[in-house]
Amino acid sequence: MRDKKVHQLIVAETKRQREGMELIPSENYVSRDVLTALGSVFTNKYSEGYPGKRYYGGQDFTDPLEQLAIDRAKQIFGCKHANVQPHSGAPANIAVYHAWLEPGDTVLGMDLSHGGHLTHGHPVTTMAKLYRFVRYGMKDIETGEIDYDKMLEVAKKEKPKIILAGFSAYPRELDYSKFREIADAVDAVLMADIAHIAGLIAGGILKNPFEFGFDVVTTTTHKTLRGPRGGMIMSSAAAGNPLKKPQKTKDNLATLIDREVFPGFQGGPHMNNVAAKAVALGEAMTPEFRVYAKQVVDNAKCLADELMKKGFKLITNGTDNHLMLIDVNKSFGINGKQAEEVLDKIGLTVNKNAIPDDTLPPFSPSGIRLGTPAVTTRGMKEKEMVQVAEWIHKAVLNRNDESVIKTLSEEVKQFCVNYPLPSDQ
Ligand SMILES: Cc1ncc(COP(=O)(O)O)c(C=O)c1O
Repeated sequence: MRDKKVHQLIVAETKRQREGMELIPSENYVSRDVLTALGSVFTNKYSEGYPGKRYYGGQDFTDPLEQLAIDRAKQIFGCKHANVQPHSGAPANIAVYHAWLEPGDTVLGMDLSHGGHLTHGHPVTTMAKLYRFVRYGMKDIETGEIDYDKMLEVAKKEKPKIILAGFSAYPRELDYSKFREIADAVDAVLMADIAHIAGLIAGGILKNPFEFGFDVVTTTTHKTLRGPRGGMIMSSAAAGNPLKKPQKTKDNLATLIDREVFPGFQGGPHMNNVAAKAVALGEAMTPEFRVYAKQVVDNAKCLADELMKKGFKLITNGTDNHLMLIDVNKSFGINGKQAEEVLDKIGLTVNKNAIPDDTLPPFSPSGIRLGTPAVTTRGMKEKEMVQVAEWIHKAVLNRNDESVIKTLSEEVKQFCVNYPLPSDQ
């Protein structure tokens, strides 16, 4: 590469990724093919509109490309509509809100401190200024069980237009049939945000919201699904012609969503990104991906068990998916920021995270969040998770002992280089 400054940073980041271990649950390592598609000449092409209905010429290859991504998404998730153009997970959620809601309408989503995402109505977001967000949460933080009775009560009182099932820091499965019952009781659109768990659903390990009658499902493509950074929106009903404005009915939701993505608030799709989404979706259809998804969850369960044996307090006392939330304050008297920093020093990347009803501030909360999608991509299994738990424990216990921390960081580096990134294979 001629730009030496950018080149140096790419080289340095590659080294960091090779020599360290990515334990942030929303991250992963993509295949060489996904990287190739991202770096392809499709980045040069404008293709506003949808396959067969574009505003510019020269779409001979963009149309079949986007259609391929759409068809693969529909086949994997068993739905009738897929929009593969959202630039990311946040725009995907925003498009659904804009498609269905009027300013001031209400959305019932998971309490953010119980695991919901910023885009589910955090007060700092623009969405929270436009729409009203009300909350459901866990009944019991020890089991993680959602309080569905309370949720029904809130739904009847607040009359949400959308009920949203989804999370970025909740380690258990949701009871989708309960969500369906509650949405039926108040005639709400039922939406799932599967950004974190899309790959585990694609791999057949976790339940698919469409099998429980969800109307719309949004996702990112870069977490467990192991694709490029991006978003997708899928609907249970097929879309009509996006050039014709339909009436605002549930039957027309997919068309309303397509019109909202473009021309509503995005411009031209990033076709190199759509190409990479198509590749990742193709990979997610293989038997190898099913094995991968199962191993992600097996690894998470093993890591969670090992950490609990060493005295770490896990929120809900375990995990059913790829992530875990640890109350390091309760377990070892340090906050999440301190834990994140000491683990960073030894090459284990995690993120500080609020725990349910946290009493500490967001920049130094009580918890850390970690997960297994990325390390599983590098071929690590239960044996390696036992070792990872050992390092986490030693680093936290010896956080003030520079020589122990240095030794641990050397050990992690030596270990990691034996598990190449997929782009190095
Ligand atoms: C559940 C959920 N939804 C949406 C998003 C937003 O995705 P992005 O950061 O790609 O916009 C995230 C990101 O972490 C997420 O966890």
